Amino acid sequence: MTHDRDTLIAAAKAAQTQAYAPYSNFHVGAALGFADGAVVTGANAENASYGLALCAETNAVAKAMNEGRRGGLEAVAVIGGMHGQPGPTVTPCGRCRQVLNELAQLGKTDPVIWCAGDGEVLELRLSALLPHAFGPANLG
Ligand code: THU
Repeated sequence: MTHDRDTLIAAAKAAQTQAYAPYSNFHVGAALGFADGAVVTGANAENASYGLALCAETNAVAKAMNEGRRGGLEAVAVIGGMHGQPGPTVTPCGRCRQVLNELAQLGKTDPVIWCAGDGEVLELRLSALLPHAFGPANLG
């Protein structure tokens, strides 16, 4: 494992400060750790048309793919809380699990997901969060 848990969580926490969440006030940050050592982060970006909110994890994946990444996803850290304050652990929403799976399956990895909360970190593999996933392998 190239990535240290607490360092990746710190990167997610730093990304969280860029959240645009004036409607829910729930600020989320995500950090993706890649096999080459790179870290790509994202924060949630909401919209006046509420249902169009983009999650932190989805934004991070889009950023990574726009940088040309197509695999190598080893680890993910997620942190969230009301007004950016510490709160219970945040696990990626269903859509984000599927979005993360795209990069994971492309690179044949099963990233560890560190879901951070106040004083607690839940460690899960993506395959545990999204068992029997449908992905690019199904279409190949
Ligand atoms: N949110 C994320 O960014 N990631 C998650 O995994 C859960 C939810 C965002 C979406 C919305 O902007 C806010 O948190 C409240 O749902």
